[in-house]
Amino acid sequence: MCGIFGYLGNKNSIKACLNGLKLLEYRGYDSAGIATIKNGSLINFKASGKLISLEKKINIKNLNLDLAIGHTRWATHGAANEKNAHPHLDEMKNVAIVHNGIIENYDILKKDLQSKGVKFRSETDSEVIAQLIFKNYKKNLLDATLKTLKEVKGSLAIVVIHKNHPHEIVAATRESPLAIGFDDKKNEFIISSDPNAFSGRNLNVIFLKNNEIAHIKKNDLIVINLRKQKVHKKFEKLNSKNLIFSKKGFEHFLLKEIFDQPLTIQKAYLGRAIEDKGQVEFEHLNFTKKFLSKIDNIIVTACGTSYHASLIAKAYFEDQANIRTSAEIASEMRFKNLLITKNTLVIAISQSGETADTMAALKAAKAKGAKTLSIVNVQNSTISRFTDESIFLKAGPERSVCSTKAFSSQITVLYLFAIYLARLRDMKKREAILFLKELKKIPLKIRKVLKISSLINEQAKKYAKFDSFFFLGRNLMYPTAMEAALKLKEISYLNANAYPAGEMKHGPLALISNKLPVIAFCSNEKTYDKMLSSLMEAKARGAPILAFATKNSYGIEDIADDVIWLEKTTDELAIFPSSVAAQLFAYYVAKIRKTDIDQPRNLAKSVTVE
Ligand code: AGP
Ligand code: GLU
Repeated sequence: MCGIFGYLGNKNSIKACLNGLKLLEYRGYDSAGIATIKNGSLINFKASGKLISLEKKINIKNLNLDLAIGHTRWATHGAANEKNAHPHLDEMKNVAIVHNGIIENYDILKKDLQSKGVKFRSETDSEVIAQLIFKNYKKNLLDATLKTLKEVKGSLAIVVIHKNHPHEIVAATRESPLAIGFDDKKNEFIISSDPNAFSGRNLNVIFLKNNEIAHIKKNDLIVINLRKQKVHKKFEKLNSKNLIFSKKGFEHFLLKEIFDQPLTIQKAYLGRAIEDKGQVEFEHLNFTKKFLSKIDNIIVTACGTSYHASLIAKAYFEDQANIRTSAEIASEMRFKNLLITKNTLVIAISQSGETADTMAALKAAKAKGAKTLSIVNVQNSTISRFTDESIFLKAGPERSVCSTKAFSSQITVLYLFAIYLARLRDMKKREAILFLKELKKIPLKIRKVLKISSLINEQAKKYAKFDSFFFLGRNLMYPTAMEAALKLKEISYLNANAYPAGEMKHGPLALISNKLPVIAFCSNEKTYDKMLSSLMEAKARGAPILAFATKNSYGIEDIADDVIWLEKTTDELAIFPSSVAAQLFAYYVAKIRKTDIDQPRNLAKSVTVE
């Protein structure tokens, strides 16, 4: 995880670094730090917690310097405190580094250095990099970094400075993204762990690949590989629009993003669905029709919320397109024996396009010859660049760590893709038209959910006093319940277990009491009666029940203590109103619980370590 930012330019390096880190803070907010060189010495500022604490410590006025490196941390090794904040310096304060990733052999390297008398200041794996570069330094920073890269194992993106080289930065990467942008008019270099930090600038950009090392000097950039051979890199012009992060009057980004959904679903849908023809088209999707019509196996892989979208996609690909599909948690997938043939398509779903687990799964699939498609929100992201083809969500930046609008856009795009494949097989035009017309009504149905947000808030007030919950659903309402439970856990820090309702009697029912409420997702006609029976079993044992159900459904009012009524739609599409209502419920519970809603503890928006 973590955000890395480096700047070499014209006398405003600290300001540039602070601004850059603001755009990267979603990647980690355990601590932040900046290092620079002044009068031949390294200066290092660090603070635990969010960037704002670091800002308060720096007096920019006294620091008109050319160069700086900065970091926002998501701790993997060592507590989230100031001591462990990056940048890390070697013992003699000659070298400063920022690091994203995990050094897997750090313990051996550290013990070896300690046995030679080297003193360490932090508990991190990263500090060993600074100490090794110092040890390997013989007047050439590039050579010292190169030698160090050969000694360390694991994943890394690093940016390095040395007090004797006040106009040089060395950057390197292995299994972690790192981009370098050059503004030829302003003569400045910017290094960042993702292009988000290039916001509002016109840059010529290169993305470093595995084991490439960049040597950046004023007006000069060379890239070499581990064998010290020069690598020719092609610059891409990137005119990135100014990312404007506004809460638009909402108290939190999360609430704004929940309310964005009628529009973002429309954006994912429009220009792709041709309702009157029952057809779907995707811009720039270059798989051949021959391949698409022969696909007989789909593997959808993702993490967290995006994985829940995969589960829904699996059901729909199988039901509508008759294609055998599996949904795989990305962090598990690479350890499986993947059965990939020439007719297999691997789909990776990711809001950020940076998730390391999803990248690792994709790499494993590609190594076995799979064709790959990514469904991502962030253009130019690592995953979108890695896969054969990409479809973009067009949901706009999602700032809150807790994913909401990306989820509903993922489902929209996945459903459209399923129709696209199904129409190349035996799905009837009439069926496709009906589905697309109903999907087009979803934004309107979501607006109706948003209109009852105060009712949902009232329910949240009632249920926020409990510490533990069961979230139940059946059929497609099961992944819906999983996603709803994840929302509650993530932002309210409460325990929420999602189960397929029918499984309760096979064990979990033992936990039921009047202290453990059941949140029930009932908007699936196919399994509605069975759902009622499962809820009766919970009620008989004293569980308070809050149900999300479709308007005019029979029976549920007699069983549940409280019901939130949602608009009617089809079983497949009921995910949308149910999820949005559950997002609001989680939001209001979290508000009552006074948690850090947009940046919940221990988490980060972009999870770039495995
Ligand atoms: C969702 O609320 C979470 N923050 C998390 O589960 C997230 O969906 C997961 O880390 C995957 O991220 P991605 O979609 O950017 O790959
Ligand atoms: N492993 C390093 C640390 O714990 C870097 C973590 C990261 O990539 O955020 O400090």
